[in-house]
Amino acid sequence: MFASLNADPLVMEHFPAVLGLEESDALADRIERHFDEYGFGLWAVEIPGVAPFAGFVGLSIPQFQAHFTPCVEIGWRLGAAHWGRGYATEGARAALAFGFDRLGLAEIVSFTVPQNQRSRRVMERIGMTHNQADDFDHPHAPESFKQHVLYRIARAERLS
Ligand SMILES: CC(C)(COP(=O)(O)OP(=O)(O)OC[C@H]1O[C@@H](n2cnc3c(N)ncnc32)[C@H](O)[C@@H]1OP(=O)(O)O)[C@@H](O)C(=O)NCCC(=O)NCCS
Repeated sequence: MFASLNADPLVMEHFPAVLGLEESDALADRIERHFDEYGFGLWAVEIPGVAPFAGFVGLSIPQFQAHFTPCVEIGWRLGAAHWGRGYATEGARAALAFGFDRLGLAEIVSFTVPQNQRSRRVMERIGMTHNQADDFDHPHAPESFKQHVLYRIARAERLS
């Protein structure tokens, strides 16, 4: 199920390429190692009565260097059949609560390519803000996917 999510061209439209089986398994291994190392990560999303596995939503620590790292990122990837129902926003709000209330983080960021409007709308719905001065080139992305927008939310903003 994880592999078919990562192999779907619609789901992966804003990434350089879909993932083959080996790449998808390697991503699953990285997600598990992240949980082992930090105690949090990209949680599997179950929609009770609808789908035992719809995708993932969660928190992770980016492994590249940029002007805003080290940081904790919030991210999401759902099967296209589950878009348009608010599941990503619901999961993201739970992940933010975990990051701020359980982990005591001061700030959580999120980033994507400028044209990923669906993802940007989730960022905006959960109260994140975008400052153009934060935009950056992703060091690991190929040329046509380099440009990224950065969104942030601070613990204090969420509490106010
Ligand atoms: C990014 C992604 C998770 C967003 O999914 P989504 O379904 O648009 O987001 P949500 O689950 O928050 O749903 C919000 C939509 O559902 C609608 N909705 C319906 N019922 C809702 C409810 N109860 N609560 C909130 N929104 C609801 C909203 O109106 C909104 O639609 P709109 O954006 O057209 O106005 C999804 O497009 C995806 O997995 N994309 C591929 C992977 C990807 O690009 N990930 C991000 C990489 S940075």
